[in-house]
Amino acid sequence: MNDTDKRLAALAAIEEVRAGMVVGLGTGSTAAFAIEALGERVRGGLTISAVATSLATEHHARAVGIRLIDLPAEIDLTIDGADEIDDDLRAIKGAGGAMLREKVVAAASKRMLVIADESKRVARIGAARIPVETLPFAQAFVAARLEKLGGTPVLRAGFATDQGNGILDCRFAADTDMAILAAEIDAIPGALGHGLFLAEVDAAYIAANGVVTRLERGTGTR
Ligand code: 5RP
Repeated sequence: MNDTDKRLAALAAIEEVRAGMVVGLGTGSTAAFAIEALGERVRGGLTISAVATSLATEHHARAVGIRLIDLPAEIDLTIDGADEIDDDLRAIKGAGGAMLREKVVAAASKRMLVIADESKRVARIGAARIPVETLPFAQAFVAARLEKLGGTPVLRAGFATDQGNGILDCRFAADTDMAILAAEIDAIPGALGHGLFLAEVDAAYIAANGVVTRLERGTGTR
C-alpha cells in the first residue's frame, strides 16, 4: 500500500466535484485523502454538501469544514475506497466495516468513483474476505447459512459497526460466481449488508508509481 498513490488517486477523483454538488464521502485511509483535499477546496470557497458513510468520516469531514447533510434521495457523486477492484469495476469493500452505509450511499449516487492504489487492483475479485454485516441476534443463523453457501465465516473479533452490528468475514472458493453469491447473501434474513459491489462503481481512479489511471465502466481504461 502506498500513501502517495492513494493521495494521487484521491486528488484526481475530486476533480470531478463541482460547486453545488451533494457528495458522498467514503470511509478508509484512501477516502481520507479525498476528504482532506475536499476540505481544502471548501475552505478555498467551493460550496458543496456531503453525506458521510461512517462516524469516522463524519468526524473527519466536520474537522476539515465540509458541510454534512442527512442522506437525501439522490447524491451527485460518491468517492470511496475499495479492498479489491477488477477491470470490470466489480469491487469488494468493507475491511473498514462501513460497507452497509457505503452501499446505501452508492445506491443513492448518480455516479460512484473508487479511488485506490495499485495494490487493490486484481484480475478477479474474491481473494479478499467478503464482510457480511450481521444482526447480533441472528449471528449463528447467518454464519450457518453462509457455510451452506460454501463460505467460511469468521466473526470479526471485538468489532461493532456504526450500527452496533457484528461482521462475519467470509472466505469463498476462488471460482465462486459473485453475482449469484451476492443475491444469495441478500436473501439471508439477518444479513444486513455485504461487501460485494458488483454494479455500483461507475469509474475507478487507480494510482501506480505516481501515475493515475481512470477506468470507466463499459469503456475500459482512459
Ligand atoms: C470501508 C471500506 C474501505 O473503503 C476499504 O476498506 C478501503 O480502505 P483503505 O482505503 O483504508 O484501504 O470499504 O468499509
